[in-house]
Amino acid sequence: MSDGSGGNDAENPSIRRLADWHADRLHGVAAAHDTPAYVIDLDRIAENCDRLHAAFPDADVRYAVKAHTGRAVLEAVREAGLDAECASAGEVARAIAAGFDGDRIHYTAVNPPARDLDHVVDLAAREPGLTITAGAVDTLDRLAERDYDGRLCLRVNPGVGAGHHEKVRTGAAAKFGVPYDRAARVAREATGRFDVVGIHAHAGSGIDPDQLDAHREFVARMGDLARTLTDPRNEAGAAPTGGEAGDAPTGTALPDPVDLEYVDVGGGFGVPYREDEPPLDIDAVAAATREALGTVPTAEGTGTVELAIEPGRYVVADAGVLLTRVNTVKPTPDETVVGVDAGMTDLLRPAMYGAYHPIANLGGADDAEAATDGDDREPNPDVKRESIPVTVAGPICETGDTFCEGRPIARPALGDLLAIGIAGAYGYEMANQYNSRPRPPEVALSGDDDPRVVRRRETLADLTAVEDGAAETGSTVDRVEGER
Ligand code: LLP
Repeated sequence: MSDGSGGNDAENPSIRRLADWHADRLHGVAAAHDTPAYVIDLDRIAENCDRLHAAFPDADVRYAVKAHTGRAVLEAVREAGLDAECASAGEVARAIAAGFDGDRIHYTAVNPPARDLDHVVDLAAREPGLTITAGAVDTLDRLAERDYDGRLCLRVNPGVGAGHHEKVRTGAAAKFGVPYDRAARVAREATGRFDVVGIHAHAGSGIDPDQLDAHREFVARMGDLARTLTDPRNEAGAAPTGGEAGDAPTGTALPDPVDLEYVDVGGGFGVPYREDEPPLDIDAVAAATREALGTVPTAEGTGTVELAIEPGRYVVADAGVLLTRVNTVKPTPDETVVGVDAGMTDLLRPAMYGAYHPIANLGGADDAEAATDGDDREPNPDVKRESIPVTVAGPICETGDTFCEGRPIARPALGDLLAIGIAGAYGYEMANQYNSRPRPPEVALSGDDDPRVVRRRETLADLTAVEDGAAETGSTVDRVEGER
């Protein structure tokens, strides 16, 4: 557990670098399960959860399942005591399958497909503790049309965004949440139809220490909104600015306070992908978050509204590595291109966001033998060779299918095993079958147990499985035609 010193104690360091992995174990996984293959360390996930709990002892910590939905990961997170924040019916179904009770599931509906709403509303009838987070008045109407009157959280657009790339700066994007200046009225009106238990916003993903000011500003705005809602004397709650269809008449009577249980300020805690980047001081982020939120008295005034957070990346990023083997070494006049058997289909982040992932060369079979000789299991996987600048490229017919350019790594040779680090978040999760490439397997590490395959490698037959018998099966529409 963290001792409160920035979450950075020796037992549970705030980042596990690629150099901290044991080369012998990674060689062993590659030898037994072939490449490309993901490795996920369940113990590290538990450590990350512990650090979050230690930094945010009073908060409700929810894991943003979208970062990694593997069952073994969800089970590890559940056992570590986190709730599940789910972005789709599929993620909700996975959370249930991994043993989360309904009252630990929070479904965040963004322009939700009707099929998703049907599924989750049905489930909520059996699991009334489940909470649905909605970010548009239309979504509220669609829930009411399905006779949903259960726990509801209103997603707000805080107008402040942050994150590692413009594509993941959510907070200011109009797509997400009810506009801030309309949120109080929408929340109050929703109390007539639902059990409104929370407000929610997410500023963005991959927030680094330089963006703490934006984080503070956004959390402070959420605190202000929550106080407006729980305090009926606050006129802003009765007659918020910015009109839209369905404006409530503003009488002289004070509105009822909204009985909020929590303010959810989303996820987004960054991890250092570059070797020289310092880790986020999670204790400092926690202190800044609490201070910016301030105290929010409950509607009865007898207690305080809880803080909730929903990190994804922070929980799993440094618990995952992608293993890939060198199959081509091609010197060109300008650079050496190193061809590997993993591509952008396995790890999309570099191609999609220009994201940096550390890469280590673990060497070939001889080095594997050396690494497994004796039992002194020293970390630092890089094989001892001089470094040369290389471009590491995958097998996909796209120029963007590269993991790095001009990066110094230990001189690669055919058959060498490369480890691509900090790949546990949005790695397997964004993998796809483009170029008809089956997705890789995932192998879990836990204690000294033998590595265990938790997702098998897809086969060529898996690629066409959804075409087999498709005409007979149809599109399996199991909902009422025309329902929205
Ligand atoms: N809550 C909500 C409502 C979110 O949309 C997200 C992420 C999170 C929580 C978790 O954010 P995290 O703690 O993981 O930063 N594919 C991108 C990241 C997209 C994140 C989308 N939303 C990447 O690989 O960087």
